[in-house]
Amino acid sequence: MTEPMRIGIVGAGYWGPNLIRNFVENPNATVVGVADLNVDRLRHIKSLYPQIPNVVSDHTSLLEVGVDGVVVATPPETHAPIAVECLRAGAGVLVEKPFATSSAAAREMIDAAEEADRVLMVGHTFLYNSAVHTLKEMIATEELGDIHYIDAVRVGLGLFHPTHNVVWDLGPHDISILMHLLDEMPYSVSARGVGCLQEGVEDIVYVTLTFPSGIMAHARLSWLDPSKTRRITVVGSRKMTLYDDVEPIEKIRVYDKSVEAIRRTDTFGEFQFAYHYGSIVSPFVRFEEPLKAECGHFVECLATGATPMTDGVNGLRVVEVIEAVQRSLRAGGGPVPVAYGPSGTAVHELGRSAEA
Ligand SMILES: NC(=O)c1ccc[n+]([C@@H]2O[C@H](COP(=O)([O-])OP(=O)(O)OC[C@H]3O[C@@H](n4cnc5c(N)ncnc54)[C@H](O)[C@@H]3O)[C@@H](O)[C@H]2O)c1
Repeated sequence: MTEPMRIGIVGAGYWGPNLIRNFVENPNATVVGVADLNVDRLRHIKSLYPQIPNVVSDHTSLLEVGVDGVVVATPPETHAPIAVECLRAGAGVLVEKPFATSSAAAREMIDAAEEADRVLMVGHTFLYNSAVHTLKEMIATEELGDIHYIDAVRVGLGLFHPTHNVVWDLGPHDISILMHLLDEMPYSVSARGVGCLQEGVEDIVYVTLTFPSGIMAHARLSWLDPSKTRRITVVGSRKMTLYDDVEPIEKIRVYDKSVEAIRRTDTFGEFQFAYHYGSIVSPFVRFEEPLKAECGHFVECLATGATPMTDGVNGLRVVEVIEAVQRSLRAGGGPVPVAYGPSGTAVHELGRSAEA
């Protein structure tokens, strides 16, 4: 890379400063501006980074000073209008998760990126996490055998959103991880939940996803749990593994444990179960802050014009799954098909679409 990419960041609330730090530390990027409607946040950013020349309330000022890329870390319902404006002004855009609050808004961003021929990326941070890469490798190389099921738990106490439920907030992480691990998209979901603190805005949701391969996955998402947990269990026919993102060192443990049902006779359908107990191993996972890898990837895509690993279509697919989850919640929890619409150009066809 010759010239550093000129980056503007919109939204400096809870998450924005993490993005600002990572772009400031990236040698191939220069943060030329930060925009936030809240003057207290602007004051805070100025005190942390006096070297950033444009700390402003209006994101259009960032477009006027000239940027190669804009990062959108504002509330979810504002992502699409800000991103479309930036793409039309000629900037590449990284949009935080959830990519959008409707698949129509997600498609608007994809269309704008296509028309402007600009990079569009979604911040599915966990797909830049080396523990997730290790897990995917274990599944792809069949180290775990055939996958029986996956269980994901992402719970803790708040931050509560006033209008969008916990699935819009925490769901993009697990849904994007599951689709990435299995290399396919769920064709059906069912979900039940409850809004304990705000009626109609579920703070606890249990989601079941069914994939074309027949694998079932489950995600428990909650803003109302005493203990912060980020755990994914993958149970295979040969081995089982537990990925605990809160664990500082041994993030992945592989259990050489399995059970086989052996038919005892041909005439009676009776089974006996053979249990295997082996070692528990924690493979070495080189740690790099996932957000650093994500920001670095965005800068690289801006410089080369490459399609991001988590492009707009990846963002759209996750939004389509979340919309199906909302339909199931409103319908009382029955299974509903995931409706995958037109996919734009850079298609990541991870699996069979609902129309196929
Ligand atoms: N990838 C992750 O792991 C991760 C983690 C946390 C949050 N997020 C996402 O980051 C985004 C921001 O979340 P947050 O928790 O920081 O929210 P927040 O409410 O704390 O901050 C949002 C900020 O955006 C500002 N803002 C709102 N509209 C604006 C506009 N039009 N122009 C400029 N500034 C505007 C607000 O003043 C506020 O400071 C959300 O999409 C959230 O889901 C991602």
